[in-house]
Amino acid sequence: MAASKPIEPGAGSGLPRWQLALLVGTPIVLGVGAAYLWSRSRGRSTSRGKEQPSERNEERKTPEGSEQDNMSPLDKAQAAKNRGNKYFKAGKYEQAIQCYTEAITVCPKEQKSDLSTFYQNRAAAYEQQAKWTEVVEDCSQAVEMNPRYIKALFRRARALERLDNKKECLEDVTAVCILEAFQNQQSMLLADKVLKQLGKEKAKEKYKNREPLMPSPQFIKSYFSSFTDDIISQPLQKGEKKDEDKDKEGEAAEVTESSGYLKAKQYMEEENYDKIISECTKEIESKGRHTAEALLLRATFYLLIGNATAAQPDLDRVINMQDANVKLRANALIKRGSMYMQQQQPQLSTQDFNMAAEIDPKNADVYHHRGQLKILLDQVEEAVADFDECILLRPDSALAQAQKCFALYRQAYTGNSPSQVQTAMDGFEDVIRRFPKCAEGYALYAQALTDQQQFGKADEMYDKCIELEPDNATTYVHKGLLQLQWKQDLDMGLDLISKAIEIDNKCDFAYETMGTIEVQRGNLDKAIDMFNKAINLAKSEMEMAHLYSLCDAAYAQTEVARKYGLKPPTL
Ligand SMILES: *[C@@H]1O[C@H](CO)[C@@H](O)[C@H](O)[C@H]1NC(C)=O
Ligand SMILES: *[C@@H]1O[C@H](CO)[C@@H](O)[C@H](O)[C@H]1NC(C)=O
Repeated sequence: MAASKPIEPGAGSGLPRWQLALLVGTPIVLGVGAAYLWSRSRGRSTSRGKEQPSERNEERKTPEGSEQDNMSPLDKAQAAKNRGNKYFKAGKYEQAIQCYTEAITVCPKEQKSDLSTFYQNRAAAYEQQAKWTEVVEDCSQAVEMNPRYIKALFRRARALERLDNKKECLEDVTAVCILEAFQNQQSMLLADKVLKQLGKEKAKEKYKNREPLMPSPQFIKSYFSSFTDDIISQPLQKGEKKDEDKDKEGEAAEVTESSGYLKAKQYMEEENYDKIISECTKEIESKGRHTAEALLLRATFYLLIGNATAAQPDLDRVINMQDANVKLRANALIKRGSMYMQQQQPQLSTQDFNMAAEIDPKNADVYHHRGQLKILLDQVEEAVADFDECILLRPDSALAQAQKCFALYRQAYTGNSPSQVQTAMDGFEDVIRRFPKCAEGYALYAQALTDQQQFGKADEMYDKCIELEPDNATTYVHKGLLQLQWKQDLDMGLDLISKAIEIDNKCDFAYETMGTIEVQRGNLDKAIDMFNKAINLAKSEMEMAHLYSLCDAAYAQTEVARKYGLKPPTL
């Protein structure tokens, strides 16, 4: 499916990271992991020496030889630990472990801080031997005595990862991130990795078993409006309807039955979307004369309800029908290509788009959609070339012009070229002047303006969008996000997002954004609730995986808050 949410400029736009994480709506573009949601907090970076096993800062001078007899138990423990550290540095882990064990045994139980160090050091030695269970046990001892022991928590997190205990690993690494004020790359990366893995696993399970879900009529209409050079998106021609009537009058029931496709088209005009798949099936099973169209329409609705497994064989069939109308085959290729992109198979995707351009070189839709794919693949120059081709074929295509401006903006921005940024902005002005009825033009311009910190003007642009398309929930979410960024006005932001949900209670982007804001405000339970709503509405497995990551991140935070009384900074 074509990207339903506008594509955002990449990272590095000078926004605090959590805001970026908020803004980056599409999972494909989400380079920044969910863990970074909270990374806006400032603070000194905690440096953690790499492969530095043991606490040496507390190393004490310990007497040698016979004097040992006069030593206190704590001194003896320290001496044992210091010997352990030497073995450790020499790579003699077995001996190191023996020394640390001795330290633990002789150390008085009330010396918690020292004891926790000895356990942590022994865990480091076990880690070298890849004895993960022992690592976890020793780190747990250390953390029990010293709950904010970053080194022990992080070591345990790594061992838990090795043991494939992702849930507990995530809790530990979350605690570490909070204790380090999200300033340490290593722990952030581990959090990100585990969140992504967990999200992927859960989405895979859930997506298989979910109920099919028809998107909102607004979404469906907007989806079809992104195709203009195909047959199934077009309204029925008068002639076609007449044709059907004629069939009904003149011939037997058999012929009426074969008009399943035409019925489906009528349901489409009536926005009675739930009946379309079954009508198409009738056409296909009766081998009606619109079989190719019916296959394509059915596949399109399978894609819309999120069942790619069912869509693929239909698309394959249309694509392989050598004598079918080339527009149908090209459209099927575009849709299969988009589907592959959603399944993170960019090569197959590119292949399909290229084949579409080969069989139907004058089809503007091909270039328009391939341009979007190229943007996702960060191939901006090729994207611009495709948009140009689309504009050449269809000079009135406002959408392609707006998207071209956006691609140019992105390119100028990442290329750090102020003059080209200005050119791109002028281009947007030109587009909205020439196509004042194209909402997407205002929306994309608003995003570039936001990125350029021209908040007031961006807000005006969103207002124009709302005027043109009052039913488009997405715009309200964007406008809400703008209020947060511009005025730090949480209430107004949340009001606008609530409005989005009012307009379209299937707007997953609104629930996701609201969840992210609730995380910021420290309302974790509410956030989890919102993320779960978004999960149930996710339009692809990948999107669902991203949402699960957000949800798990929030959940891990509640656990950490409960266990250690740790909370990240809130708004
Ligand atoms: C809503 O507007 C956005 C631009 O803000 C556009 O990309 C999207 O396709 C529209 N969605 C619907 C459902 O109309
Ligand atoms: C998707 O379609 C296939 C084949 O029609 C079906 O077996 C499967 O249950 C459907 N999955 C969902 C989630 O609806």
